[in-house]
Amino acid sequence: MLKVRELIKDFGRVRIIKNAAFEVKEDEIVSLVGPNGAGKTTLVNLISGHILPTSGRIEFLDHNITFASPYKRIKMGVARNFQITNLFSDSSVLDNVRTCLFSIYGKIKRGFFPANHYKAITQEAIDILELFGISGKKNLLPPSLSEGDKKILDTAMAFALKSKFLLLDEPTSGVATRDKYKVMDTIVSAIKREKMACMIIEHDMDIVSDYSDRVLVLSEGEIIADGKPNEIMEQDNVKEILFGVRA
Ligand SMILES: Nc1ncnc2c1ncn2[C@@H]1O[C@H](COP(=O)(O)OP(=O)(O)O)[C@@H](O)[C@H]1O
Ligand SMILES: [Mg+2]
Repeated sequence: MLKVRELIKDFGRVRIIKNAAFEVKEDEIVSLVGPNGAGKTTLVNLISGHILPTSGRIEFLDHNITFASPYKRIKMGVARNFQITNLFSDSSVLDNVRTCLFSIYGKIKRGFFPANHYKAITQEAIDILELFGISGKKNLLPPSLSEGDKKILDTAMAFALKSKFLLLDEPTSGVATRDKYKVMDTIVSAIKREKMACMIIEHDMDIVSDYSDRVLVLSEGEIIADGKPNEIMEQDNVKEILFGVRA
């Protein structure tokens, strides 16, 4: 569903993304891994439209979206997680999701909300919280949530944008190791149930192995490996980049 071709991004004179090319199929969960500074967040920002490439092409469901706005991409079904700092800390968990739904429906329906729409949106927000296992916390304020639940809410909000393809930049960062599996179980089961595709940036290779169908390894802006988790882990260049092991 997503096709990236010869994608290049320069910041000033520095080439940060070098000829990236890959595809993501429907229902696929792909992990994007690589050292700090490899260009992972830049690649996600290029796909979400938050930055534009120097050259190359991005297609989504056979539409050229290379230079489309983030909002256009969201409407087409490409969404990314917000950063935690974007959670509205003085609105309840429910209101955070509801705001997300209003923003997408608001733009579609031009701000016209009859009362029954409001009810429907509230129900939809509750359904999403249920899908992510945090409906019991709907009246809490985000600052009182655990780091894991904040991350789950963050992902639920991206999910609320009705995406077909979800970009998750480090959905478990800041979450204690023992809670990472719970967060990933919650997120991945919601994604699978809705038959969505997903690209996840994750550092923990145990989590990557357990949850991804495929892994892309990025090193200094280049994709140096693309394959099933157990396959790429066998490659000497990948071992060296990810674990510092020299063959
Ligand atoms: N807006 C920007 N302007 C200049 N350089 C940037 C910008 N954004 C990122 N970079 C540089 O691009 C490289 C890749 O960054 P990033 O995509 O955040 O890496 P990662 O997410 O893999 O850690 C880094 O060297 C970073 O300093
Ligand atoms: Mg990053």
